[in-house]
Amino acid sequence: MKAVVIYESRTGNTARAAQLIGAELEARGCETEVFPTRGVDLKTLAEADIAIVGTWTDGAVLFGQRPGGGGNIAKYLPMMWDKPTYGFVTYALRAGNVLRGLNTLLRSLGADMRGGLELHRKHLETDAADFADAVLSAYQPANR
Ligand SMILES: Cc1cc2nc3c(=O)[nH]c(=O)nc-3n(C[C@H](O)[C@H](O)[C@H](O)COP(=O)(O)O)c2cc1C
Repeated sequence: MKAVVIYESRTGNTARAAQLIGAELEARGCETEVFPTRGVDLKTLAEADIAIVGTWTDGAVLFGQRPGGGGNIAKYLPMMWDKPTYGFVTYALRAGNVLRGLNTLLRSLGADMRGGLELHRKHLETDAADFADAVLSAYQPANR
């Protein structure tokens, strides 16, 4: 099984979360490559069984949250053509509806959204391990 983890990050937390998730997936036998949104390798993405896309929470701390760098996700990711996809977001205090916003954005690219997780920026290690477990135990190939 192959996975690709793609992230948008402003101050490094989501990049770190992406690397941690990638390492946890590798440790569970899933071949995984990690890319920033702008550097995504389209062939690797096309060949991956699952995609995991992460971003950060951009808002006014308690309200108005939206996916950080959402414009870059829309700009640099190709159409996802029913790729089984999971979203994740990092946040500091309250993620609000940002995961829902990320799901909507990825769905608009054609991704088959299977779920997602909010990771508090102070608990990235434990949350990344839990996320890898959840993704792999829930994974079922696309029904085609
Ligand atoms: C401009 C800006 C707005 C933010 N708004 C929120 C917010 O509304 N709620 C929240 O929980 N965290 C908020 N944060 C915190 C970030 O989402 C959090 O630190 C995240 O892990 C940053 O990811 P990054 O290091 O990958 O950029 C904000 C950070 C910035 C820079």
